Order: sequence, then C-alpha cells, then structure tokens
Amino acid sequence: RERVLSGVQPTGSLHLGNYLGAIRQWVAYQETYESFFCVVDLHAITMPHDPKLLTKHCLETAAVYVAAGVDPDRSPIFVQSHVSAHAELTWLLNCITPMNWLEKMIQYKEKAVKQGENVGVGLFDYPVLMASDILLYQAGLVPVGEDQRQHLELTRDVARRFHDKFCKKSSSNKVFREPKALIVDGGARVMSLTDGTAKMSKSAELDNSRINLLDPPDVVVRKIKKCKTDALQGLEFDNPDRPECTNLLNIYQAVTGLDKDKILDDCADLSWGQFKPLLADAVVAHLEPIQSRYNEVIADQKSLHEILKRGRDTASDVASQTLADAKHAMGIPPQF
Ligand code: TYM
Repeated sequence: RERVLSGVQPTGSLHLGNYLGAIRQWVAYQETYESFFCVVDLHAITMPHDPKLLTKHCLETAAVYVAAGVDPDRSPIFVQSHVSAHAELTWLLNCITPMNWLEKMIQYKEKAVKQGENVGVGLFDYPVLMASDILLYQAGLVPVGEDQRQHLELTRDVARRFHDKFCKKSSSNKVFREPKALIVDGGARVMSLTDGTAKMSKSAELDNSRINLLDPPDVVVRKIKKCKTDALQGLEFDNPDRPECTNLLNIYQAVTGLDKDKILDDCADLSWGQFKPLLADAVVAHLEPIQSRYNEVIADQKSLHEILKRGRDTASDVASQTLADAKHAMGIPPQF
C-alpha cells in the first residue's frame, strides 16, 4: 500500500490555509493510503520561538489533526523530535546535499531576509530535515500546499543523489522511495484576507489577515466583514486584476463543496455586501464541528498523550529500519 506522510509546524494557531491546503486532504487520503502525520517541532525552532509555548503548541496541533478527522487508530500521529531518526538522517543527508541547492530555496530566502545577520544554520537546513521526515517513511505521496512544491523537488533530488552515490554497485536495492507532492486544486494557496497577492500565513503580523481554525464565529464574521475587496461590480473567478475576489470565491467553493458554475449562478451578480455574509456563514458552518471536536480532544490530555505515544512507537519502527539501511549503505559501522 502506498504511504503518505505530512506535517505542520507547531508555531501558533493553524489557519484555513493549513487546513484547506493540507490537513483536509490528509483526512481524505487516510481512507486509501497508509498515513503518518507528524507535528514538526524541530522545524518550528528554526525561527525564533518561545520555549514556554512549544509543548503547548505541539499538543494543540496534534489535537487539530484529530479534530479535523485524522483517525489516530489508523494513522499514527507523532511529534517529530520523539523519533530521533529524523535528526540522525538529517545529518547523514547534510553530508551529501550541496549548499547551493539549499541557497535556491524560496522559503529560505524569504525567511532569511526577516532574520538579517542572525539567520541560523537550522533555517538553512530546514529542507534537509523535511526530506528526512519524508524519506524515513518511504512515503510516495506528500499532501501539502503549493508553497511546499520546491521542498518536495529537493527531497527527490537528495534521494537520487544518495542512490547515485551509495546504492549503485553491490546493494542494488534503493534505500529511499522518491516522493511526489499531492497538491489540491483550489485551497492549495489560500491568500491573505488583507492582500489577495500574499499567502495566508501564521507568521503574518496582522491577525485579521487570516482565519484561524479556532476563531470563534463572531471573529470569523468580523474578519470577513473587514477583509479587502474591490470596487468592481459583480463577482468572478480568476480575473488577474481581482486577486481578492478570486481568493474569497475559492474559499467559498472549498468550504461549501459547490462547483464553480453553481457558485457563479448564485453569486455572480451579488455585491460584496451581499456575498460577505454568505461566505462568513459558510466558513463558520464548516469550522463549527472541527472546533467542538477540538474542545473535546484538548480537554482530555491523557488520551492525547496516549495517541502521541502510540504514534511515536509505530513511527519509530518504520523510521529506524530506513535509518539502518541508510547507515549501512554509507558504510557506517554496525554496533559491535
Ligand atoms: P507549515 O506549518 O508552514 O504549513 C503546513 C501545511 O499548510 C500548507 N499551507 C498552505 N496551504 C494553502 N494555503 C496557504 N496559505 C498555506 N499556508 C500553509 C503548507 O503547504 C503545508 O502543507 N515545511 C512544512 C512542514 C513539514 C512537512 C514535512 C510537510 C515539515 N516536514 C514533511 C510535509 C512533509 C510546512 O510548510 O509547514
């Protein structure tokens, strides 16, 4: 059975982009594929972070996975740092990854600018750690948002380079599986509510720019009421001059599940003042069951810990096998 692996950074509250771009797909794919879902805390510390909040954010992120519909009995949910193979494989892969591959990473360049001279080695190495996450589980499919496409390409390149270097002659068996990104139509790039040309993001300063999954209904209504629109008449998809309009219709489509033609039939002639309440109601209705489930899950910390413990055990079994194979291929001495 094909394997899926994906993860989210525990860097604060998750937003509609994380959900529509990634987590919602995970829930659908777990029906068909053997799936592993990781809370990537080692990635979260590549930018300045608050040690007092990291554990809390890890538990909240795991609780969102469950609340959104990931079934921990079928799909292990685990914290990345609890499976030490992630850090170990990263070191091995660091030693074969050219610096200039990492220098080309768009996310690195964007985040490095914000850090100036303080940019850390960990931020630079972020994509290699992500490659390790994926390769350890032999994942063939990785459901992510559009912004992760380049990191998936890098993962494939690193796997290929490893095989070229170490798996050619004696051991014909490849150690890793080359993964593919699974990117949905619509939802793969949810844009900011305050600027239709910028990605909705956890790190954007303005909370009004995003809808957090756990925002209460009145906050969702207020954010949508205030969100940026334009002065043109009528609503339409995909007009490059109207990025906000496309984004809001895409969100509407994603949360209602209606097709574009139906949406255009219903909404093409509406004004913003008429459409915004429809959109707000649809988002609130979509989030409501996730939020009430979240409240149950987060209230039962003991069960949540148990989920993460079981997840770690299952994940460790798979990851340690791949790590052992990688070490063997590289000629690292076995334990005598
Ligand atoms: P993170 O936490 O930044 O994002 C988590 C997931 O949400 C998607 N996403 C979006 N999708 C649509 N619209 C948006 N505005 C939006 N913002 C974020 C991201 O594409 C991602 O799928 N590097 C990963 C975390 C990671 C990972 C992995 C993913 C670490 N190791 C292994 C897959 C496999 C990231 O961006 O996290």
